[in-house]
Amino acid sequence: MTETTKPADQRPEHPDFWCKRFGEGTTPWDAGQVPGDFAEFVARQARPLNTLIPGCGSAWEAQHLAAHAWPVTALDFSPQAVARAREVLGAAAVDLVCADFFAWQPQQPLELIYERAFLCALPRKLWADWGRRVAELLPPGGLLAGYFFLCDQLKGPPFGILPEQLDDLLQADFEQIEDRAVHDSISVFAGRERWQVWRRR
Ligand SMILES: C[S@@+](CC[C@H](N)C(=O)[O-])C[C@H]1O[C@@H](n2cnc3c(N)ncnc32)[C@H](O)[C@@H]1O
Repeated sequence: MTETTKPADQRPEHPDFWCKRFGEGTTPWDAGQVPGDFAEFVARQARPLNTLIPGCGSAWEAQHLAAHAWPVTALDFSPQAVARAREVLGAAAVDLVCADFFAWQPQQPLELIYERAFLCALPRKLWADWGRRVAELLPPGGLLAGYFFLCDQLKGPPFGILPEQLDDLLQADFEQIEDRAVHDSISVFAGRERWQVWRRR
């Protein structure tokens, strides 16, 4: 069976893949809480930043941002993921959107795109589009911040990306301003993810 003839629920570029897993409650990537480097990043910003969380899943971080009065859009193309996010968010002031990251358009200019387990959920054939899209969505000075699954794991998701491959996707439009090891990873990512911040040129 080739990639394109596989059923939709076996193709991570299709919402059905993720709906199946959220529907079954099989979400090993879900930290169930806000990761430390992200919370620390939020705490040290001088003011709230208009933030997009693509592939938000359960949206723990969106809840955290809303609690700190940050404007935040949490976006996912899986209706089951959005339903789970709705449970987590309750009445939190989050713009929760069911849409494809590659087609969605912001209402207001973005200042931050938060990355966790989204790029590594995308098949490699979509990586160049991801790089182009984050650059299109952020104005000069805008930030791309979060967790990157840096390893040579071919089979996924999660699909590992090598540091030089990530540089190839981002360095024309972004300058890397933070890069450090992560100490509170869940087991799927442990020892293989780094916290990074990239600033749009
Ligand atoms: C591995 S999960 C990560 C969820 C969340 N970021 C987290 O850290 O728990 C990947 C998520 O990306 C979503 N996703 C994948 N491709 C997408 C796309 N093109 N547009 C929007 N969401 C997408 C999936 O539905 C899934 O919820």
